[in-house]
Amino acid sequence: MIELHGLTKRYGEKTAVDDLTFRVRPGVVTGFLGPNGAGKSTTMRMMLGLDNPTGGDVRIDGKRYDQLHEPLNYIGALLEAKAVHGGRTAYNHLLCMAQSNGIPRRRIDEVLDLVGLTGVAKKRPKGFSLGMGQRLGIAAALLGDPKILMFDEPVNGLDPEGIHWIRNLMKQLADEGRTVFVSSHLMSEMALTADHLVVIGQGKLMADTSMADFIAENSRTYVRIRTPQPEALRDALGGEGLTPTPVADGSLEVEGADAARIGELAARRQVVLHELSPQRASLEEAFMRLTAESVEYHAHTTSGTSGAADASGAAPPDGGEAAGSEAGAWGSGWKKGD
Ligand SMILES: Nc1ncnc2c1ncn2[C@@H]1O[C@H](COP(=O)(O)OP(=O)(O)O)[C@@H](O)[C@H]1O
Ligand SMILES: [Mg+2]
Repeated sequence: MIELHGLTKRYGEKTAVDDLTFRVRPGVVTGFLGPNGAGKSTTMRMMLGLDNPTGGDVRIDGKRYDQLHEPLNYIGALLEAKAVHGGRTAYNHLLCMAQSNGIPRRRIDEVLDLVGLTGVAKKRPKGFSLGMGQRLGIAAALLGDPKILMFDEPVNGLDPEGIHWIRNLMKQLADEGRTVFVSSHLMSEMALTADHLVVIGQGKLMADTSMADFIAENSRTYVRIRTPQPEALRDALGGEGLTPTPVADGSLEVEGADAARIGELAARRQVVLHELSPQRASLEEAFMRLTAESVEYHAHTTSGTSGAADASGAAPPDGGEAAGSEAGAWGSGWKKGD
């Protein structure tokens, strides 16, 4: 269990982490979600005692990080930046860490095997691909067989096979009863990985909820309609208290009735429909709406909630799991504004 209480970090005028209070529990994967610059890495560094809080504190099983004896046996972490000594072999990199934490040598072979790097154990990480570097970082995190694991944006830059592997590993670690805390700026990634969700925006806590509740609360359903007779449709639906709302792509959106009911009401007035399709707003959209006010780096073509509307247009109706929507809404759309 990790407990944050009023955790705050200021860099000069800038408040990077703003009074965060939440718990990360064992046995589940807790996703730590926020747009770029939200304060995720800073929070994680403070959890690991690598950065001093301006206020508040972090407890790991009731203790501060610096009170942990041989900390790798309590908590293992993969941080965002690759902190591997390029000139040392993968094996020796792990050996150094093991020796300073009282970890037996055989554990090195175990973790290398676990992450699939046995074949390159005697190679130097400077020649490793990004995916292999991530695997080595994960091997290091697992070295002390810790009860608590923390991963900062572990899937960044990985190929689909690597992403799939990391997701399964995190679930497996949680199933073993460990505390697993993983950050991402991608809602679609969290939706596939996390059981619990902590969302931050500009250093502040925006949500602390189960993934299932987040999905239930934020999956807005509506029906998309295209018609050459929008006025006639408005009349047909108006009698039932339904209001079609025009959106930018020329379609209309209706909430409050299913597609079958809307189709019947239109047929009754002989309104021609070119499209009648049930939709569910993507979780990406819900996340963007939640953090829109607090986003530091705005999209350069749109801003605030209109950006969210664009993302929902690009996302599939099943909750935005397509890689395309990630690349569109997040990869290129979010630009550093300073
Ligand atoms: N060492 C630092 N000095 C000054 N500002 C920093 C430092 N580290 C992070 N920040 C700022 O704190 C904010 C949060 O950064 P970070 O924790 O890296 O966010 P995230 O990991 O969510 O993308 C950003 O505005 C970033 O520029
Ligand atoms: Mg970060």
